[in-house]
Order: sequence, then structure tokens, then C-alpha cells
Amino acid sequence: MPLPDAFQARLRLPAIAAPMFLVSGPDLVIETARAGIIGAFPALNQRTSEGYAAWLDEIEDRLSVASQDGSRPAPFGVNLIAHATNPRLDQDLKITVDRKVPLVITSLGAVSDLVDAVHSYGGLVFHDVINVRHAEKAAEAGVDGIIAVCAGAGGHAGTLSPFALIPEIRRFFHKTIVLSGAISNGAQIAAVQLMGADLAYLGTRFIATQESLAPDAYKAMLMQAKAADIVYTPSISGVNANFMRQSIVAAGLDPRNLVSHGKLDMGAEAKVWRDIWSAGQGVGSIEDVPSVAELCTRLEQEYEAARTALAA
Ligand SMILES: Cc1cc2nc3c(=O)[nH]c(=O)nc-3n(C[C@H](O)[C@H](O)[C@H](O)COP(=O)(O)O)c2cc1C
Repeated sequence: MPLPDAFQARLRLPAIAAPMFLVSGPDLVIETARAGIIGAFPALNQRTSEGYAAWLDEIEDRLSVASQDGSRPAPFGVNLIAHATNPRLDQDLKITVDRKVPLVITSLGAVSDLVDAVHSYGGLVFHDVINVRHAEKAAEAGVDGIIAVCAGAGGHAGTLSPFALIPEIRRFFHKTIVLSGAISNGAQIAAVQLMGADLAYLGTRFIATQESLAPDAYKAMLMQAKAADIVYTPSISGVNANFMRQSIVAAGLDPRNLVSHGKLDMGAEAKVWRDIWSAGQGVGSIEDVPSVAELCTRLEQEYEAARTALAA
């Protein structure tokens, strides 16, 4: 399976802790990298480009301390939203290139100029897609990896089963394929590889960790919610996304009678996502709020047990 050279031998598990708006910050990224899993955060989690640059410097500094004790952390990534309503894209890309961020995850637009800029310093670009048409465009733009965001994923999810989408993408894309959607344990990470993808992409599971920026009430709601509580709607963010029914009700809205919010506008998203909490259908498997280190150890044990059981 095609894992980029930069990732070979640096990962304890074939997994990425997915970037999440208002949830992923330096602590989450640093602890996942130390635990041997790729961590990532959206540049927009800092209010300004200067703040984004400061987070990158902090992550580099703290990870270089980790390297001095002999351990080599996993690479980390940032998420850039390539959408017309993101006025910071050019400036954030410049900072990303200056700092030579190892992995850039793009959503909402695969831009070949961006891919060239990241390749110029040896970085990699993975792009989020929810269907084959977007995957073909991303492949044409020269990305190094495609993230198949399947049914049940947190955030702006797709509707396709991974059993359908992964083989269709694999037919024409021979680089890294990442599978996203409702992955909560290590056996499922092993299943991702069995299905023909290379890396698992876990979002919701990492919201319920000590290092995530989510408020405690959000983490508590995740432990109570089940798959049936996840509402898939375009009404909240302007693009189809999954939210917890309980948080829609807590915000004073009726999940069965949502009024359209209009088109996606990255300038206004923080207001929405701060009050209404997104999660994927994997919530039903979340029962605790461990540290990232504890969670990664558990994921590894489950992953190895699943592989051993299969081999037997
Ligand atoms: C609260 C939340 C915020 C998210 N924000 C972003 C984001 O800013 N950019 C992005 O590319 N994906 C975002 N996502 C999607 C995740 O990167 C990932 O695709 C998804 O969480 C995986 O599905 P899972 O949550 O079922 O594990 C978000 C997901 C959640 C749950």
C-alpha cells in the first residue's frame, strides 16, 4: 500500500487525528505526534494569520524538545480551506510554505498552484473529497493523498459507503488513500487497511480527549449521544454536515424543522460551530475522555489484537 516515504517508519499506527474546527490545537497535535499518529489542525482555529504562525512555531519548538530525548515524533499537518469565502488562504499558504509544514490537508477546492507551492519544499498535500468527481479533480491537481470522507463522518460528511467509494477511487488513484467516517477504535483502523485504504482518519474520537479544545459539556454530550442522534443537514453550515441532535435542541432549534442558513461562509462559521456541536456517527462507541497518549495506546492494542485475530 502506498504510504509516502516521509511517513514510512515514523507512524506507530496508520492513522491521522483529523483537523477539526474549534477543536484541534497545539496540545492535540503535539500529543498525537508524540504518540506516533499524525496530528493536524485547521489554520482557521487561530483568529489571525499571525496567530496561525505562532501556533506553528510553538508546535515545532515543543516537538523538537521531544526529539532530543531520542524519540522521533510523527509528522503533523495543517488544514487550509480553499474556498472563495476564506480571505486568509494566500497569507496562510505563505506561512505554511515558509514554515515547511510536512502535510497540508485541503478542503473544498483542489488547487494545483497550492499543490506546487507545497511540493516546492518537499511537503505533501492530501485533499478531502466526498465523491469520485472531486477525487478525479484532486488527482489532476497532483495531490499526494485523497481523503475519502464517507457516510457518518463528523463535520462536512459525505453520503457514500466506504465499501463503494474506496474501490472506485483506487481504480485511478495509486497514491495514498485515507478513509474518514465513524472510525472510533483500533480494529476499525485495521479494517481501513483491509478495505484497500492506507490510513484511517479519526475526528470525533479525538474530540473526547483531554487535550482537545472542546468545552467539557461537548465531551459529555459525545459520551451520551448515539448514532441515531446524528443529524445530517445543510441548514446549519450551508453545506451538508453532521451535528448532535442534543446540541441543536440546546441551541433552541428544532432538528426536524431547521431553517436554511444560506450558503457556506467561512467568515461566519465560528459563530455556528461554537453553539452547535458536530460529531460523526461513531459517537456511540465513545465512553470516556482519555489523554491522547492513553487513547493511542488503546488504539494500538485494539489494532494489533484485530490483526492477530484475523491472522489466526
Ligand atoms: C467538530 C468537527 C469539526 C471539523 N472541522 C473540520 C475542518 O475545519 N476542516 C476539515 O477539513 N475537516 C473538519 N472536520 C472533519 C474531520 O476532519 C474528519 O473528516 C471527520 O471528523 C472524520 O469523521 P469522524 O468524526 O466520524 O471520525 C470536522 C469534524 C468535526 C467533528
